[in-house]
Amino acid sequence: MALPLLNSGIKHCFNMEDFNSRAKASLPSPLYHYIEGGADDEITRYHNTEAFNQYQIIPRVLEDVTQVDMQTTVLGCTVDWPVLLAPTGMTRFFHHEGERAVARAADKFKTMYSLSTVSTTTIEDVAAATQGPKMFQLYVLRDPAINEELIDRCRLAKYDALCLTVDTVVQGNRERDLRTGMTVPPKPTLNGFVGFATRPSWCYRYFTSPALEMANLAHHIADGSSKVSSLGHYINGQFDRALNWRAAELIAERWQGQFAIKGIISAEDARRALDIGATAVIISNHGGRQLDTVPAPIEQVAEIADAVGGKMDIILDGGVRRGTHVLKALAMGATACMMGRPYLYGLAAGGQTGVERVLELLRNEIERAMILSGRPSLDKLDASFIRKL
Ligand code: GLV
Repeated sequence: MALPLLNSGIKHCFNMEDFNSRAKASLPSPLYHYIEGGADDEITRYHNTEAFNQYQIIPRVLEDVTQVDMQTTVLGCTVDWPVLLAPTGMTRFFHHEGERAVARAADKFKTMYSLSTVSTTTIEDVAAATQGPKMFQLYVLRDPAINEELIDRCRLAKYDALCLTVDTVVQGNRERDLRTGMTVPPKPTLNGFVGFATRPSWCYRYFTSPALEMANLAHHIADGSSKVSSLGHYINGQFDRALNWRAAELIAERWQGQFAIKGIISAEDARRALDIGATAVIISNHGGRQLDTVPAPIEQVAEIADAVGGKMDIILDGGVRRGTHVLKALAMGATACMMGRPYLYGLAAGGQTGVERVLELLRNEIERAMILSGRPSLDKLDASFIRKL
């Protein structure tokens, strides 16, 4: 059930930053800062979006734009428009309907949803909630039996694609979480007490909903997956630092389907991903949450497209807040984009309705920018679309 008070707020959201403000007003501050924060000085975190402004759009006029076609094929799935929903951990933190609400919104808007290894809803429950295209994001854990189990469960649940995240062998230094006393699951610690006390409706939902846990891993966590600790502590203790190209190749072989490697920044690594059997690279710095001061994904698209374009899908993940950002990425050679934080803002602000509104706004922005720039179909987005400042 949607909260009418919160949903009335989303009617006044006209862009992603409006949703960001609504999320801030809805969430206990440790949770808001968990979404919003990045690593170290958060330079990459914000540069990801700012970097799009280095490129200007050169519109064409007097083109017939009566029909606009935004459909594309990515990871073997046809989507109505070129933005996929990125994997985000612990999504029920932000709204009690969590991953199911996001997956249903993606299905309604005919695009792909990605479920995280550290999700709060199981692989099977998400599959039961939506018929739409789905990808599972794999973090490689030290126990190989768990990795194999997760891959096999995805096959059984008919996921369309698997994505291996390679930029998180240890967690980035997220100082906001240290300051706010962010815990997994969220608990009003002394540090975060005021942040929780001032959000009574979130607290009510939280305490009247099923316990929050890392749902896919719960049966492997001996002392209980709802034990209070930091997510960073879990990642640093369980994620496999020995993860290497050979291990990635073995995962691709076990999966035998559409396989993306997420967290690629260099063209050389994109070539290696192709060599080991990946069908897509996701250019990503984990939303600026891992290694700080790396380039923005948009700055790497052209070079990666030169290296592997046409041979595998190229997905840009990071900083997308406007329809024009998506079109710039596609003009440089990306097949599609991904976004994470914006849909979490929508989810926090208004559950599934909030996510749908975010998707609607972004899709409309893409369509409008295609009309105004005289490029009514995605194949018209080429190097002539942009100029670097
Ligand atoms: C999890 O993937 C995170 O970035 O917090």
